[in-house]
Amino acid sequence: INTFRIAAIAGDGIGKEVMPEGLRVLRAAASRFGFALELREFDWASCDWYAQHGQMMPDDWKEQLAGVDAVYFGAVGWPATVPDNVSLWGSLLKFRREFDQYINLRPVRLFEGAPCPLAGRKVGDIDYVVVRENTEGEYTNLGGVMFAGTEREIVIQESVFSRHGADRVLRYAFELANSRQRKALTVATKSNGIAISMPWWDARTDEMARQYPDVRVDKQHIDILCARFVLQPQRFDVVVATNLFGDILSDLGPATTGTIGLAPSANLNPERQFPSLFEPVHGSAPDIYGRRIANPIAMIWSGALMLDFLTQGQGSGRAAHDAIVRAIEDVIRSGPRTPDLGGDAHTEDVGQAIANQVKEF
Ligand code: NAD
Ligand code: IPM
Ligand code: MN
Repeated sequence: INTFRIAAIAGDGIGKEVMPEGLRVLRAAASRFGFALELREFDWASCDWYAQHGQMMPDDWKEQLAGVDAVYFGAVGWPATVPDNVSLWGSLLKFRREFDQYINLRPVRLFEGAPCPLAGRKVGDIDYVVVRENTEGEYTNLGGVMFAGTEREIVIQESVFSRHGADRVLRYAFELANSRQRKALTVATKSNGIAISMPWWDARTDEMARQYPDVRVDKQHIDILCARFVLQPQRFDVVVATNLFGDILSDLGPATTGTIGLAPSANLNPERQFPSLFEPVHGSAPDIYGRRIANPIAMIWSGALMLDFLTQGQGSGRAAHDAIVRAIEDVIRSGPRTPDLGGDAHTEDVGQAIANQVKEF
C-alpha cells in the first residue's frame, strides 16, 4: 500500500478554516482509493507563531520537513500584526526558493453553476493553465533606499532573471503545451516598456520555440493579455509568465470564473529533489476570517493536484484526483455553496459534501 507523508501547514486566517476541509477530503480519498496518509501538522509558518518566537519558522524547519513527500499549505499573512513582506519572505517564499519549486501551475476553469461575471460564457470557454515562474524575476529583496526620509529619497528594487531560470520554465511550458490537444502557448511579456529583461525573455522564448515546431507561440504584452483574459478567454490554453505577471494573471483568471475561492496551485520541483508544495492561490482573507464562510474548494483541489503529482498521474493517485475533481464539479453545480459562489453554506458543509461524494465514487 502506498503511503504519502504530508506536512500540513495551515498558516493564518482562513488557511486555518480551509485546511481541515482539505484534510477531510484527502482522508476520504485515501480510504476510498486505498492509500495511506502520514500527516505531520505544523503550527509554524504563521503570524501567531511569529508573535511567540519573533520569526515565522523554526531554525530547523528543513530538518522538521525531512522525509516528507509534499507540503500541503493553507495561507500566510496577517498584516495587522506582521508586515506582509516579513511574513511571506519568512515562510512561503522561502519554501518556493529553498525547495526550488520553480514551476507554479495554476489551472483556471469555469464550472457549471459558478457565477461567471463575463457575459455569455459557458463551461469550456474558460479552461487554461497559467505556468508561473516561481523563484526569481521581479520577486527579490535586492535594492535599497537612499537618502531615506529626505526629499531626495530614492528606491531601487532589482529584478533578476537567469538563463537557467527562464529556460527551465519556458521548457516546462512548451512541453506542457506540446502535450495538449490545442498546442497553443501564450507568453506574457512587456518588451515595449521594460527595456532589458523583457526583450531578453522574448529572445529566450524564440530560441526555445525552435525546438517545438508544433507549438503555436503567441507573445503578448501583459496589458493586452489581461484584457483578453476578460474579453477572449477561449483563446488560451497554456500561458507562461514571469513571477509577478504570473501572480497577477492567476488572480485575474479565477476572477473571470466567478471567485478566487476555487483556484488551486501546485508549486513544483519537477525533478523531485525537494518536496513540492500545494496551496490555494488565495491568501488568508482577514476580511472573512472567523465566519466559516471561506470556500474550501481551492484547498481541496490543491490536494487533488498533490495526489496526482505524488503518483505521477498513475493508478490510485490519478483515480483519487479525478474523483475529487468530479466531486468538486458536482458540488459547484448542485450545492452546498459558500457565499462567493452565491450560496449560504459554511466552509465545513462544502468540505463534507465533497468528502461524501468522493467516498461514493
Ligand atoms: P486574499 O486572497 O486573502 O483575499 C482577497 C479577497 O478574496 C478577499 O475579499 C477575500 O475575502 C476573498 N477570498 C479569498 N479567498 C477566499 C475563499 N477561499 N473563499 C471566499 N473568499 C475568498 O488576498 P489579500 O486580501 O490581498 O491578502 C490577505 C493576506 O493574505 C495578506 O497578508 C497577503 O499577503 C496574504 N496572501 C497570502 C497568500 C498565500 O499564502 N499564498 C496569497 C495571497 C495573499
Ligand atoms: C500567491 C501570493 C504570493 C505571491 C504572496 C503572498 C507573496 O499572492 O501565491 O499568489 O505573490 O506569490
Ligand atoms: Mn497571488
